[in-house]
Amino acid sequence: MSAPGTVVWLTGLSGAGKSTIARLLAAELDRTGVPTEVLDGDEVRAALSTELGFSKRDRDIQVNRVGYLARLLTRHGVTVIVALISPYREARDTVRASLPSFVEVHVRAPLDELVRRDTKGLYRKALAGEISGFTGVSDPYETPTRPEVVVDTDTCTATEAVARILAVLRRSPGDTRDHVLAGNLAATAGRRLLDLRDQLGFTDPEALRAAGDKLSHRFLADRIAEHRRTDRLRSEEAPGDGAGDRLWIVDPLDGTREFGEPDRTDWAVHVALWERGALAAGAVSLPARDLVLTTGSAVARPRAPGRFRIAVSRSRPPALAGALAERLDADLVPMGSAGVKIASVLLGETDLYVHGGGQYEWDSAAPVAVALAAGLHASRLDGSPLVYGRPDAWLPDLVVCRTEDAERVLAAIRASATETEPQEELA
Ligand code: ADX
Repeated sequence: MSAPGTVVWLTGLSGAGKSTIARLLAAELDRTGVPTEVLDGDEVRAALSTELGFSKRDRDIQVNRVGYLARLLTRHGVTVIVALISPYREARDTVRASLPSFVEVHVRAPLDELVRRDTKGLYRKALAGEISGFTGVSDPYETPTRPEVVVDTDTCTATEAVARILAVLRRSPGDTRDHVLAGNLAATAGRRLLDLRDQLGFTDPEALRAAGDKLSHRFLADRIAEHRRTDRLRSEEAPGDGAGDRLWIVDPLDGTREFGEPDRTDWAVHVALWERGALAAGAVSLPARDLVLTTGSAVARPRAPGRFRIAVSRSRPPALAGALAERLDADLVPMGSAGVKIASVLLGETDLYVHGGGQYEWDSAAPVAVALAAGLHASRLDGSPLVYGRPDAWLPDLVVCRTEDAERVLAAIRASATETEPQEELA
């Protein structure tokens, strides 16, 4: 298994210097033995996107295609440098969310400087109205909100820009490696589970579930032992006592019941790392949806219009959720797997996950790590922090929602809790 590569995504206006920086960065990475590919907008358009123009739809298709290629390459350990105007934030963030390691670089220069450079003569034409919908002149460019790097090419050279990007790629290498390892493990275990479903079929669901649990646990335990020799492991099969500096908290197959049912996609693999008191890295893969969410790359989607939606357990929606739904005028959305429910908040498919029925640390550690890294609110029902790495691994209740909803949601939980019997919530 090769460690997955990073995607370095250079975005910015035409002529800002993306291609120059991409070439120079690729040469530098190649020199240090990192396998690298460059996906450059003009070249990809000539090779794969000749039918595309510059409408929003066409640009989004272009970004999608390049994101897809980048993803295939990174799976095999290639670091991919993308140089693409990619003017729309949502399209960039969607690619970010699909990759275990994504470094967004905003390559910028003031418009008058770009017009002065005008290396391809396109700004002159755009300003003269000979090209319509030209980015930065007559078409929008949405500035990245949280780029890992910003380089101003009117004040720094391409060499300096490359040095800045390399510094970020090498920053806290331990941390980056843990995010990437978590993502890689969750993704690979997920692929193996999909293969197992194909091989065994659904004629004996219990046998399939047992085999899935075992296969994924074995895989994760072996790989963590191999790659992080001194770290400890906690999972349902091996709860341990939580001691040590670094503890991997994994759920090899969350939503085992759903895994055993054909056509269900609501099951997940959880891999989290707890380090000296806090969640340090984590990844959740939703293999049947071909999605991997990691602490290195996840972005929370904005709230969709319409009624508030609460993700609840498929088999036994807790009474608390019912009371909350009334109070918040919300719909209940039943699904399996705690990881899938938390992911649904992150993906903007629901607005809230609330659980009061008793859980263990492995049920929530990885999705909570990802949710927190993406800027969501995650806490106990009383608003206190979620504490992992405890001796008994018991972590009975939690709530995950968008930060801006947290105050209202916690108040509604307090009010609803006084109406519902606590026993009803127990598993
Ligand atoms: S993107 O918007 O779809 O991400 P991409 O990076 O592939 O753009 O291609 C941009 C290149 O196409 C520019 O560098 C420029 O040479 C050329 N181009 C031609 N027409 C336009 C236009 N209307 N807007 C931006 N770039 C254009």
